[in-house]
Amino acid sequence: MNDVKVGGCDSAERIAISQVSVGEEERSAVLRVLDSGTLAKGEEGRLFEEEFASALGARHAVAVSSGTAALHLTLIAHGVGRGDEVITSPFTFQATINAILHVGAVPVFVDIDPATFNIVPSLVEDAVTSKTRALLPVHLFGHPCDLASLREIARARSIVLIEDAAQAIGASFNGEPIGRTGTACFSLYATKNITTGEGGMIVTDQKSVAESARMLRSHGARARDDFGAAGFNYRMSEVQAAIGRAQLRRLDSYTEARRRNARYLGEGLSSIETPAEMSWARHAYHHYCVRTGSQKERAKLQERLAAASVDTAIFYEKPAYAHEYLRASLGRSYALHETERACAELVALPVHPGLAKSDLDRIVAAANG
Ligand SMILES: Cc1ncc(COP(=O)(O)O)c(C=O)c1O
Repeated sequence: MNDVKVGGCDSAERIAISQVSVGEEERSAVLRVLDSGTLAKGEEGRLFEEEFASALGARHAVAVSSGTAALHLTLIAHGVGRGDEVITSPFTFQATINAILHVGAVPVFVDIDPATFNIVPSLVEDAVTSKTRALLPVHLFGHPCDLASLREIARARSIVLIEDAAQAIGASFNGEPIGRTGTACFSLYATKNITTGEGGMIVTDQKSVAESARMLRSHGARARDDFGAAGFNYRMSEVQAAIGRAQLRRLDSYTEARRRNARYLGEGLSSIETPAEMSWARHAYHHYCVRTGSQKERAKLQERLAAASVDTAIFYEKPAYAHEYLRASLGRSYALHETERACAELVALPVHPGLAKSDLDRIVAAANG
């Protein structure tokens, strides 16, 4: 671990909202791949999948080129297509919604819980129609959704449950790691809790979903010159997989560091609402988003932190449904209260494993003003 760049910043240095932590293990993994002469479709990819599945206690893992590719392939593999309705969150990164649009389905939005920022199961239940084919909840910021309720709705209404776990590696629900049961899609983008630079992983307990995803990520090829579908090139390279294997070994220590930092911030911060962790949740703190009382209060908090050279970020400025390009596909308008309030009031503070105690103290002092 001591080769990894996780040192804190001195008082003059900017505290970034996220920081890539790579070291000698990643460096030698990259060189190992370059020296092997196999840059694609090799052993590193196969081993990364095996180790990823094993880390979560899951049956199958399929490595792909991004979290968006993971969502896209998973929707296809579960048979979601043109005209189907997919119930999802309006408080998410737009990739969740784009994946639904890419298969020709219609996103249907329900409001979020003000404490977890995840969709509310009773509202999901009300939104189910005869056209609903799938639920696509997002474990936002690394806090798991109420999976027990969502699984029950999916079972009772015979609809598919696909989890957008892009931000939730290391999180668990009732002690069960996200991804162990059902089908979940992870992102391994550069700012995520572990990274391959760009990358994604589909984790599923259904062999048929894994087989479909494997075929579709590689042009639909079942064997050399035998194509079963109009697939894509959504493969992960060997260099990415080798980096991922090294990162995976640090998953537990990174998650623990994020959780420790979140606890420290939670104890120090006053007059702002710090993130909740439900009794059934293990939060992975991909983002540490605090709630200010208004857009104006948020701007003031950001100013205080900027003056102390602490970066902040807003996730997300607008509800997903408010983006103009989506209007025609939705066929209706939305105004969801808790989502709009979260867009106006939340701001993310640094929580990454590279923070030293002195960094956390600087964040707390600047935020408390
Ligand atoms: C909630 C959510 N879904 C999907 C994605 C897409 O992942 P990627 O950027 O790897 O395509 C992201 C990435 O930030 C995300 O945060």
